[in-house]
Amino acid sequence: MSTNSRIYLSPPHLAGREAEYVMDAIRSNWIAPAGPDIAAFETELAAQTGTAYAAGVSSGTAAMHLCLRFLNVAQGDVVFCSDLTFAGSCNPILYQNAEPVFIDSEPGTWNMSPAALGRAFEAAQRSGQLPKAVIIVDLYGQAASYDELLEICRHYGTPVIEDAAEALGASYRGRPCGSLGRFGCFSFNGNKIITTSGGGMIVSDDRAAIERMKFLATQAKLPLPYYEHEELGYNYRLSNICAALGRGQLEGLAAKVHRRAEIFSAYREAFLGLPLTMLPVSAQGAPNYWLSVALLDEGAHFRPTDIIDALERENIESRRVWKPMHLQPLYRQRRFFAHDARGGGDSVSAAVFDRGICLPSGSGMTPEQQQRIIDIVRALFPQP
Ligand SMILES: Cc1ncc(COP(=O)(O)O)c(C=O)c1O
Repeated sequence: MSTNSRIYLSPPHLAGREAEYVMDAIRSNWIAPAGPDIAAFETELAAQTGTAYAAGVSSGTAAMHLCLRFLNVAQGDVVFCSDLTFAGSCNPILYQNAEPVFIDSEPGTWNMSPAALGRAFEAAQRSGQLPKAVIIVDLYGQAASYDELLEICRHYGTPVIEDAAEALGASYRGRPCGSLGRFGCFSFNGNKIITTSGGGMIVSDDRAAIERMKFLATQAKLPLPYYEHEELGYNYRLSNICAALGRGQLEGLAAKVHRRAEIFSAYREAFLGLPLTMLPVSAQGAPNYWLSVALLDEGAHFRPTDIIDALERENIESRRVWKPMHLQPLYRQRRFFAHDARGGGDSVSAAVFDRGICLPSGSGMTPEQQQRIIDIVRALFPQP
């Protein structure tokens, strides 16, 4: 085991003024689950994402759940969802007792395949049951192929929930991630590009929808001088302390995106000539480079775990790519539409899972630390 201090995959990175914001909240006694920093953080995040309204919530998963609940997704309904993602994208479909259907990735961005989505809609139409919503994930901080995906969803009149949990600060053809669907959801979990220790946000141009989701997030408590509840709500609101932390973090977003892009480029350059290529970047988008992900070539004599184990021996954290939802024991019985229409069980998401590795990508990582990582990885391969 190395004596060097541990390098984490994507640890929190303070921008500078977080303590000031949090101390102001403490000094003014706004340490309750209400307070002025919540409204300010919502306004600032809406501005950052080019949307009109925002609702701060306790997690990205809560944000997704509120969108489904707002759309009245319920038992018997179907929701389409990106297959290659974290469970927080789709578990809320089960919270609503609805049926998830998973859509494979496309090779160009690893995000939802428009070809597979098109076939899923055609099958849904034939069966007489269209989905109630489509959840499109912006994986690893890169926008999906929205021109094609939104066109298909518009054709069938199905609302889109953009799961931009990993993509704050990224954009698609100049439009900020989070603003591309009817609703955009963010996560401020500890590993994200900015963090509130835990938290999330829904953004939208639909004022009434955001108001309703805030209401549902506050136990659906009616505005009366006593506690009156006509329907089921949740305790999903973001705390004022977390919002204060988020305001400080948001000030550093542009610098963090810049630094993560530098880290991605340095890996790409260092791996030239090795059977290891970085996540493909689409010309339509400007990613936030949340995680630097590398893919082993198909015939490579290495497995992701060889690299992960070599880094771990030097006290460096790295991870496999998300395991696709259609391969999860929880979801294995659900329907899945592959990118390749010929079938045969192959999927892009499974191939990416099989050969992908997430490398340390924190914006606080020094060039020297990254060089250590690069040296360890390069040493595994016979030098060209
Ligand atoms: C794509 C995606 N969706 C949803 C979530 C859920 O967010 P949270 O952990 O804040 O609930 C995450 C991350 O954690 C995520 O990466």
